[in-house]
Amino acid sequence: MNHLDALPANFRWGAATAAYQIEGAASTDGRAPSIWDTFSHTPGKVDNGDTGDTACDHYHRWPQDLDLAASLGLDAYRFSIAWPRVVPLADGRVNAAGLDFYDRLVDGMLERGLTPFPTLYHWDLPQAQQDRGGWPERSTAERFAEYAAVVAERLGDRVRDWCTLNEPLCSSWIGHLEGKMAPGLTDLTAAVRTSYHLHLGHGLAVQALRAAVPGARIGIVNNLSTIEPASQSDADLAAALRADGHINRWWLDPVLGRGYPQDMVDLYGVELPVRDGDLELISAPLDWVGLNYYFRQIVADDPTGPVPNFRQVPGPNPERTAMDWEVHAPGIEELLLRLTEDYGVREIYVTENGSAYRDTVTADGRVDDPERTAYLESHLAACARAVAKGAPLAGYFAWSLLDNFEWAYGYDKRFGLIHVDYDTQARTVKSSGERYAQLIAAHRARA
Ligand code: IFM
Repeated sequence: MNHLDALPANFRWGAATAAYQIEGAASTDGRAPSIWDTFSHTPGKVDNGDTGDTACDHYHRWPQDLDLAASLGLDAYRFSIAWPRVVPLADGRVNAAGLDFYDRLVDGMLERGLTPFPTLYHWDLPQAQQDRGGWPERSTAERFAEYAAVVAERLGDRVRDWCTLNEPLCSSWIGHLEGKMAPGLTDLTAAVRTSYHLHLGHGLAVQALRAAVPGARIGIVNNLSTIEPASQSDADLAAALRADGHINRWWLDPVLGRGYPQDMVDLYGVELPVRDGDLELISAPLDWVGLNYYFRQIVADDPTGPVPNFRQVPGPNPERTAMDWEVHAPGIEELLLRLTEDYGVREIYVTENGSAYRDTVTADGRVDDPERTAYLESHLAACARAVAKGAPLAGYFAWSLLDNFEWAYGYDKRFGLIHVDYDTQARTVKSSGERYAQLIAAHRARA
């Protein structure tokens, strides 16, 4: 039996991207700045001073990019819609040209046999909303739902699969607590309130999508990690529990009907701005749950560090990606089984999984990336093992279709199955992309 035979016959093979990371055209056709334009243009925030101003110029080159996606044999394409293109300012006015872009993009996918999987929020809050207080304020969740309704009205006749938020952990903890992503705050209260209002925005957006798109299949995407204690000491065991709360339970529990984990509410010590009916909205039934997996975390107690008082220690596997993330494929299997067995999730997508390596184009124009190929194969095999043990995994989206703007790391970190030369905008399918296409074709032939 081939190692991927356990994957179901109707398994969806995809790749993912996000608007700010690939589109460029930052001030074209009425797009206004997002918090990431502000952050990346602030000296010292992003490596090499890189910005998303041009990125992969996908805004203009999307036909070629969709052709490439189709040439890999993908069934589905996960992309994100830029709120600052659609409702750029605080006045609520819809920018027709911004919406038209996504209309063309969706038609382009359908023409090529790619199922569109849009994400409504992949971190690019309009700066105008930030100026009104941003995610720490309830009104931002309400504005998000209005924007979601606008997009759903326009695309809902062709798009069935929707994702509300990508990785609210990053927007909240990295953007508002650690200050390493936009908007660059280091404020626990703002971070906790952000997490709450993102969840509320998710719930309100689910409501808006269900109203506008009969039969919509809606999910949320979280980046999760398996957590291991650095030792069996009581202090490290307790740190691992806190880390699990901070990284996993805070994001899963409220959305999946368990409410916010009380140990973490107590630890943060920030009052959640809950109003009547909010928790029901936040936990409205979903059709699927998205898992983004990159690495496990081995954690030790850190009593003098900031709340939640743990620090990550390096894992034992010497294999590391260019992000210095330890390669650990069993983690994806473990998380798929946790979602299945512990949370009772009935449909899961791996909405992102991938690796950055230092790729080079050889003289004959090839990009050989054996490490990324091995990463892809080992993680897909781990997904298949989870399926064999009962995980209802419906599809896998490789991160990423293209090399792109890797947030605070700029363009140095390349995650693509397709190489992008940022001087010429030439695209080259890497050997990992070719291998992914072979695996897809082989699975399809046996299905
Ligand atoms: O590039 C990011 C993506 O935007 C969100 N998930 C993790 C990826 C790699 O860091």
